[in-house]
Amino acid sequence: MLKSISFPMKQRSALSQTIASLFRVLPRKLESHPDHVGVEAEEYNRMVKVHYWLLNRPFIQMVSKLEICNKKVLDIGTGPGWNSIGIAKRHPDYKITAIDLSPDMIAIAKKNAEDEGVADQISFIVGDATKLPFEDNEFGLVISHFMLHHIDHPEDMLVEANRVKHQEGQVFIKDLLRQPNWKKGFLLWFSKYFLRYNEEQLREYDESMGAGLVMNEVPGKLKKANIEGGRVKNFRGLDFILHLK
Ligand SMILES: C[S@@+](CC[C@H](N)C(=O)[O-])C[C@H]1O[C@@H](n2cnc3c(N)ncnc32)[C@H](O)[C@@H]1O
Repeated sequence: MLKSISFPMKQRSALSQTIASLFRVLPRKLESHPDHVGVEAEEYNRMVKVHYWLLNRPFIQMVSKLEICNKKVLDIGTGPGWNSIGIAKRHPDYKITAIDLSPDMIAIAKKNAEDEGVADQISFIVGDATKLPFEDNEFGLVISHFMLHHIDHPEDMLVEANRVKHQEGQVFIKDLLRQPNWKKGFLLWFSKYFLRYNEEQLREYDESMGAGLVMNEVPGKLKKANIEGGRVKNFRGLDFILHLK
């Protein structure tokens, strides 16, 4: 009698543990190679070229609507440069500086800008987001897309972004959110079967999602960076947007 009761109890507990694990958000884990070099850089470029409409265009559209005081833009962690290129095409009067830690990414970004006919509008620089080689108050707009999760202590980059922002300028950051297990699994499945990501692209996406922040961690990072008044918004349940004026 007792045995027949204990068996379903065990099953129930296994089921509730499985359900709980689906909703669990794992602790933040940095990517294995925070700067994308070699094959990682090439595959990232390929992925963005194919899925530009989904990955980068929404960000470029949002950024393009902002009023910029001095028409000087800094793109931190530019990667293959598609955000800088998109903004340059929409705003031929902007001067854009694009920085990335990876020399491979910068080489790809330069080539992309040349192919797209906007190379003379964008200066590409190899450098670290947490030690920006620029003066205080230099840029009317500081942007960063899918990049903050690469930084061990995101507040270090926020301090720098805020420092180089013009007094009347803005910082506009969009980055991946760390997802609960069920959603991470679904997004990887969708990316594999619908977006046709290859193994390397799936690995990069998987690691990125594990390295992101969750919504309620963002205000704490702003506080650590000693920044007041930033607006944080959820974007389609996938990303967060941080806007500092
Ligand atoms: C996921 S990619 C995003 C590229 C681009 N912003 C986009 O949206 O297409 C992140 C980029 O950040 C760069 N990165 C990582 N750590 C960095 C750091 N400390 N300083 C500057 N760039 C960094 C990587 O090399 C990579 O090119």
